[in-house]
Amino acid sequence: MPTPRTALSVSDGHPATLTCDALVLASVSVKGQAQLLDGIDLPRGVVNSINKTLVAMGAQGSADEVIRVAGVAKVRAPLVLVVGTGSDAERHGVSVPDAIERLRRGAGVAARSLGGTSKAVFALGGVTSEQIEATGEGALMGSYTFATFFGEGKKSSTKAPLSEVVLTGLKSRSKDTKAVVKRLRAVDQAVTYARDLVNTPPNALYPESFATSVSRRASKDVTVEVWDAERLTAEGCGGIVGVGQGSAQGPALVTMTYAPRGAKASLAFVGKGITFDSGGLCLKPATGMITMKCDMGGAAAVAAAIFAIAQLGLPVAVTGYLCLAENMTGDLAQRPGDVVTMRGGTSVEIINTDAEGRLVMADGLALASERHPDAIVDVATLTGACTVALGDRTFGVMGNDEVVIARALAGASKAGESAWPLPLTEELRASMDSQVADIKHTGDRAGGAMIAATFLAEFVGKDSQGQPLPWAHLDIAGPAFNDGAPHGHTPKGGTGAGVRTLIEFAAGYTR
Ligand code: BES
Ligand code: MN
Ligand code: ZN
Repeated sequence: MPTPRTALSVSDGHPATLTCDALVLASVSVKGQAQLLDGIDLPRGVVNSINKTLVAMGAQGSADEVIRVAGVAKVRAPLVLVVGTGSDAERHGVSVPDAIERLRRGAGVAARSLGGTSKAVFALGGVTSEQIEATGEGALMGSYTFATFFGEGKKSSTKAPLSEVVLTGLKSRSKDTKAVVKRLRAVDQAVTYARDLVNTPPNALYPESFATSVSRRASKDVTVEVWDAERLTAEGCGGIVGVGQGSAQGPALVTMTYAPRGAKASLAFVGKGITFDSGGLCLKPATGMITMKCDMGGAAAVAAAIFAIAQLGLPVAVTGYLCLAENMTGDLAQRPGDVVTMRGGTSVEIINTDAEGRLVMADGLALASERHPDAIVDVATLTGACTVALGDRTFGVMGNDEVVIARALAGASKAGESAWPLPLTEELRASMDSQVADIKHTGDRAGGAMIAATFLAEFVGKDSQGQPLPWAHLDIAGPAFNDGAPHGHTPKGGTGAGVRTLIEFAAGYTR
């Protein structure tokens, strides 16, 4: 069963009079007390009465709070759901998401708690089209479920997602509204695709089946080319071949090309696509291996973002490189001590076979560089060290170019994805000196996320003047997979981390 998608529509009707199963409103926290958001399009009397109910119930308006009120007078919907959105000054010194992201998350919380419902009107209280768009985005993302592998007719613990989201506050016939709806559908499809790829079990999603999935979505706008192991060997991609040789499922490199007429910039996105990371001969312990189907989250984000960018017709050329391999322990598996030669000729001494991501990414970065794009962004679930540094919900941003790093951070901020810069300092490189090859692929344990990025930097090529091509690296090891309880618009399992940041990053070149 493919992932069921929630329908989206826009209504010019008044929220109080619309026929639906639930009306969703939002509250803010004012001195620890929930209060409906300003701008909610309901008669004054209805707002006052709901506010009184909120006080009586001791509602706080905090993020993730859901208050259900049934039978509200003068409201057609049988159920009113009030979601908390917190406040912008929740705790001293602790940063809270901006108001737009709080709305997006609130809508996600509401959509999740409306699982099994057919139609809900989201009138959270935002009045600008940016606020309403964020509401729609959160509602669609929050209503995601992954049901592909449930047996037909079997009882599952997952409720069907909310089937229809109705937005109010936009003029349904206006050109602006049509653009908003188009963006929402494209973003929802992209995030869903990336989540589905991550959630698909690793016996079903391996390099070849990943490549097939992407190829099936190819169109006249996005062309797809697949290199198999033989071709990768011939092309000198020793990193991808070396990591892939321990698995019966051979590696692959997928190149996606979107090159619209009148493109204002040319970008390259490179994604880590380890469909399962056992650690190789340097085997992971069982506890560290259980979520390792998520190790292709970077490649999933790249693929999904490029399809969305094309669907939106953004005037930027984007080439995607999905570096796909399964890191296993077969007879031919790479050994610590092996030396492999990467695309471009750099030789690498293998130290720890569990540091496989940087090896496949090295070939991807070298290939991307050959076409001299204006900027390169790579996305990878690269290091556990990044999660130690930044936690599970924030991705690390590194690179060799302040402008591209700033653009990546700005894209993340626009998307509401949490991102933070980490420095690449010159002393990091020394611990990667090798006695037998040009470089070792691991170094000191301290600063592991930066060490990995410093290794990647070696494979970013130079422009015609001999200057390194501008490059940023997103380490999404933490946010790619949600091992804990769902929160905001983020479900358990695959999250689609990086997808919206990449779309916004590309959009940044069109302005
Ligand atoms: N895929 C992992 C990183 C990872 C960890 C992703 C946790 C998502 C959640 C990566 O291939 C890896 O194993 N990295 C090693 C590197 C080390 C051997 C230098 C790590 O982080 O321990
Ligand atoms: Mn690994
Ligand atoms: Zn890995």
